[in-house]
Amino acid sequence: MQISGKTRICGVIGDPIEHSLSPTIQNSAFYYLGLDFVFLAFNVKVEELEAAIQGLKVLGIHGLNVTMPHKMKVISYLGELDPTVKFLGSANTIVNKKGKLFGFNTDGIGAVRALQGNDVDLASSNVLLLGAGGAGRSIALSIAEQARGLVILNRDIEKARRLELDLKMKFNKNIIGKSLSAISIKKYLKESDVLINATNVGMKPNQLQSIVDSSLLTSNLAVMDIVYNPVETKLLTDAKKTGARTINGIDMLIHQGAVSFELWTGQKAPIEVMKQAALKQLSAGAVN
Ligand SMILES: NC(=O)c1ccc[n+]([C@@H]2O[C@H](COP(=O)([O-])OP(=O)(O)OC[C@H]3O[C@@H](n4cnc5c(N)ncnc54)[C@H](OP(=O)(O)O)[C@@H]3O)[C@@H](O)[C@H]2O)c1
Repeated sequence: MQISGKTRICGVIGDPIEHSLSPTIQNSAFYYLGLDFVFLAFNVKVEELEAAIQGLKVLGIHGLNVTMPHKMKVISYLGELDPTVKFLGSANTIVNKKGKLFGFNTDGIGAVRALQGNDVDLASSNVLLLGAGGAGRSIALSIAEQARGLVILNRDIEKARRLELDLKMKFNKNIIGKSLSAISIKKYLKESDVLINATNVGMKPNQLQSIVDSSLLTSNLAVMDIVYNPVETKLLTDAKKTGARTINGIDMLIHQGAVSFELWTGQKAPIEVMKQAALKQLSAGAVN
């Protein structure tokens, strides 16, 4: 990689940020395609977010990924918001176009592309989504647009209900939001073709936990876990044993990063190159 006076700078802001996989993923893609871009991680404290965004304009930084804890607050400093950002109230990607900052959220489309890349036909599928936190909400929006039907189960029932109502205002489809419990999972899993875990359950250091009892999983399901550390969660191991199709959180992570990459560069992202770079960093012991 040759840095010059014309090299375009992209990056990720968050706190903490040092274990982010994004610099490895994005730089591998820039390098592979021979693009004069570089990607760096910036640790930004909550109280310094506004100054950081002003700095982005002043320094002419071309684009940013935004991660916790800034995804919601950052939108008040942006010039133009994508309709998805307006609906979700959070952004994970910024593009700086001549000093005007545009906000996008690529999480949901990343999940949809990961499913489609694994031959899941959403149009004919009923989807059961577990979790209605930040990522769950983004995924619900993109899935509701594509799938036949969607059931959202969340531990805090209010979040599931609110999401159901918000989505029903947008889509004329069968969308249900209920409380997450062993009973509700059993009930709705029977009617589902695709299961997505968008909760934290199964993430290190709790990798022995799964949100779904293994006896409920069957071979005709496609099972996606958005947790990517470990890459193969207990839920995915259990699903594989039944012969179900499985999609891991790295697939979603790469696809949402690929959408950001495409927004910054206008080029198609080299998915496999990015995926191998992420897996290499994870196997070397990165935390998230
Ligand atoms: N692969 C990717 O690209 C990608 C992208 C974003 C996030 N993620 C991963 O997705 C996970 C969630 O991230 P997030 O940003 O959505 O976090 P978040 O906003 O904090 O939401 C956490 C979700 O998990 C649920 N939850 C937590 N502990 C639970 C438990 N013991 N039982 C049942 N539900 C539980 C929460 O339910 P309540 O609302 O009831 O608290 C909420 O729905 C994390 O592991 C994160 O690393 C992956």
